Amino acid sequence: MQKFQFCSSSIVMVSILCSTFLFLLLVKTQREALGTFSLLVKQLMKPQSSPDNPDLDVQPLRPAASRHPLQVVYPCNYQFHLNEPNKCLKRTPFLVLLVITEPKHVAKRHAIRQTWGNENSIPGISILCLFLTGVHPIFGSPVQKHLEEESARYRDIIQQDFLDTYNNLTLKTLMGMEWISKFCPNATYVMKADSDIFLNVDYLVSKLLKPHLRPKKNYMTGYIQRNNRPVRDKNYKWYIPPEVYPKVTYPPYCAGPGYVMSGDLSKKIYQVAQTIEVINMEDSFMGICLQELGIRVTDSPLGLFNIEKIEYEKCRFSKLVVVHQYGPEELLKIWPDFRARKKTCNS
Ligand SMILES: *[C@@H]1O[C@H](CO)[C@@H](O)[C@H](O)[C@H]1NC(C)=O
Ligand SMILES: *[C@@H]1O[C@H](CO)[C@@H](O)[C@H](O)[C@H]1NC(C)=O
Repeated sequence: MQKFQFCSSSIVMVSILCSTFLFLLLVKTQREALGTFSLLVKQLMKPQSSPDNPDLDVQPLRPAASRHPLQVVYPCNYQFHLNEPNKCLKRTPFLVLLVITEPKHVAKRHAIRQTWGNENSIPGISILCLFLTGVHPIFGSPVQKHLEEESARYRDIIQQDFLDTYNNLTLKTLMGMEWISKFCPNATYVMKADSDIFLNVDYLVSKLLKPHLRPKKNYMTGYIQRNNRPVRDKNYKWYIPPEVYPKVTYPPYCAGPGYVMSGDLSKKIYQVAQTIEVINMEDSFMGICLQELGIRVTDSPLGLFNIEKIEYEKCRFSKLVVVHQYGPEELLKIWPDFRARKKTCNS
């Protein structure tokens, strides 16, 4: 499907082009006698911008009003505000953790750095942990300054200039895919993780990804959702209007809290996302990309990825990968005990 959208930068481009054209036209017609032709041209151009009246802006070919507010503006050449372009120059990570956070989620990032985001947790395995954010929706919010300080200190924050809202979540994941494609194309595996999960990186690496084996290709796994239907009730935050996604069900996809893919797939997803309609449900959208690419999700062993909360239990948690709904306080509280698992739980 060919898409035709206007993001703000293209509107500006069109405005500039039209104004220039009009200006040249006016200069030309003023020198000539005002024949019926030029009058007609002026008449036609009237509602658009002119150098005499720059405030009258050109109407975009497809006015923003005709685009559903939940439609994701993509591709739009979003720029990196904060970036770590050199992270993969001197090493090729086996696993990159792309953690979804909002600019204000300072406590969550701190807890993750001290727990499952610790890059040195597995000797001999190169792990990279990065936090993805957009821009705080209130312009000039002090949150941005704090985020920049945090970024200068930890060098683990990636930010693009789209508004960080729930319905723009897909842009954050796509920013992660873009980052891998451009700055870490040789990463073996990539995991997209929400910031409210428990993650057992050790088990993920040793039992599922197995660094001694040849890296998998076209691989994505997690908690697989099959035959899920788009939510059509406007009262839910997962609402998705038929104008944005008309089909009755989604293709199979991995549930959002945590899913893993091979590095090659990140690049393919980034590429295919440039060519199809992007929807506001980021995990479902990954499934749409896979379908477009003709790649299937891979089932994971039962119980490894959990989208419901499970009460912490050391030996149970030592044999799973993801548990949803672990906030920063709880993570920090259970971590010392979890780290001691190898003494008491048989593997
Ligand atoms: C998503 O971000 C874009 C770019 O900043 C913005 O124009 C748009 O309003 C945002 N969408 C939502 C639903 O917040
Ligand atoms: C990725 O691997 C290719 C082929 O081995 C190599 O040419 C390239 O320099 C590597 N890129 C990075 C960023 O490591």
